[in-house]
Amino acid sequence: MTDDQIREAVREILKANTHHGYSEEFQTPYCYIQPSTSTYPFQYFWDTCMHVFILTALEEHELAKENMRSLFVMQDEDGFVGHMLHWSRVRPAKWTDIFQSRPTRKLFRPHMSALIQPPLVAQTVQRIFAGTQDREFLDEMLPKLKRYFDWLAKHRDIDGDGLISIITPFESGMDWKPTFDQVVGFKRGVANRRLFWRVVGTDARNFFHRYDIETLARKRYFLVKEVGFNTIYSQNLTALGQLCEEVGDPDAVRYTEMADRVTRSMIDLMYDREETAFYDVDAGTGEKIRVLTPTIFFPLVIRGLPESITAALIDRHNSRKDEFDTEYPIPSVAKNDPSFNPHESEYLWRGPTWIFYNWFIYQCLFYQGFHDEAKMLEDTMRRLIQQSGFREYYNPFTGEGYGAENFTWSGLVVDMLNLKEST
Ligand code: GLC
Repeated sequence: MTDDQIREAVREILKANTHHGYSEEFQTPYCYIQPSTSTYPFQYFWDTCMHVFILTALEEHELAKENMRSLFVMQDEDGFVGHMLHWSRVRPAKWTDIFQSRPTRKLFRPHMSALIQPPLVAQTVQRIFAGTQDREFLDEMLPKLKRYFDWLAKHRDIDGDGLISIITPFESGMDWKPTFDQVVGFKRGVANRRLFWRVVGTDARNFFHRYDIETLARKRYFLVKEVGFNTIYSQNLTALGQLCEEVGDPDAVRYTEMADRVTRSMIDLMYDREETAFYDVDAGTGEKIRVLTPTIFFPLVIRGLPESITAALIDRHNSRKDEFDTEYPIPSVAKNDPSFNPHESEYLWRGPTWIFYNWFIYQCLFYQGFHDEAKMLEDTMRRLIQQSGFREYYNPFTGEGYGAENFTWSGLVVDMLNLKEST
C-alpha cells in the first residue's frame, strides 16, 4: 500500500463509523466516531482524541471540531467529563459497564460514565487550531479545557505531588495492563477468570462507594500513579499553557508550572535509575511496580527531560533484545514477563502489539532524533496493516490480526506518516 492508499483506507473507516444525531436531552446536535462497529458502541474519551489526531492528519478539521465539541457537551459544572458518553444508546454494552456508571437516576437518558481516561484533549484542540487558526473554536474550547484540567488536579492529585492517581485499571485506557495485577491482588501470570473478578470487584467497590473520591482516597483500595496517564497529563498541561498564551490568558504560567511539577515528580517517584525505567507507582504503598511495558519509555516524549535520563532510556530501548524485540514490535508487555500472552484474549494489553503504543513510542524516538529506530516502527505498522488490515491489536510474532476489525485508532499510522514528512 502506498502512503496515500493508507490515508484513504483510514478515512473510509472513520467516515463509516461516524454517527451524527440530535440530543433532545441536551438540545444540541452531536457527532462521534465509534472505534469499531462490532464491539464499541459509545463515544469514548481518549478514543475521541485519537480520532482527532487522525482527522487532523487527514485535514478533516470540521469533523474533528464536531467530535471535540460533542465530547464536552455533557461536562459537569465542576469540569468532569466521563470516559464513556452514551448518546443514543443508553443501555450498557456489557454488564460490567454498570459498575462504571455514576449511580444516578439519569441512567436511562444520555449520560456519562464515572471514569476518566488519559487527557489528550489539550493537544487535540491545539492540533485543530494549528490546522485552522480558528480563534472562535479556541475561545469556545479553552474554558472547558481549563475546567477539565482543574478538575483533574483538584480531585485526582491525591497526595499533592502533582501526579494523577487512577482508581481502576480501566482509567489507564490500557485495561488489563499487567502492572495492576499486584494492586488488585492477582498473582503475576497469564490472565484468567480470577483476574477478571478482581478487576470487576474494584469497579464494583468504587460504584458502591458512589465514586466518592474522598472515601476512595482514604481507603486506598486501588490508587495507581500510572506512567502513561501522567506523561500525557504533563504533555497536555504544557499544551494548555501554550493555548492560554496564544490568547493572552495569564493562566498560561500556572499550567506550564503544573506540567513541570508533574515531570519532576515523575522523575522523583517513578524513575528507577538502576533499571532505567519509569514505573507505575502503587499510591497505596508508594512503591514502584516493576513490570516492563512500553510505558516505561513514555516520558521520552516530554521536552526538557534531563539529558542523562533520555540517553539512558534510548540506550535501553535499543539494547535489551530479551524484552521487546519481536518480529512485529512493540509487544504490550515484555516477552519475558510471566503475564505475557501473544494471542487473542479478552484480557487486552497483555502481550499483543497495539498501534497506539507504536504511535506513542514513534513520537518519542522521532523527537529525540532517532529516525532510524522510528523508521523501523513505521515499517512494522506497514507490514501489520498490509498483512492483517486495521485490527485492534496483533500477534507480535506473526502479525496475525486480533480483536475488532476496521478498528479506527489503528489509523494513527497516518499521523506517523505526517510526522515523517514534516522533517
Ligand atoms: C478498550 C480499550 C480502551 C478503549 C475502549 C474503546 O476497552 O482498552 O482503551 O477506550 O476499548 O475503544
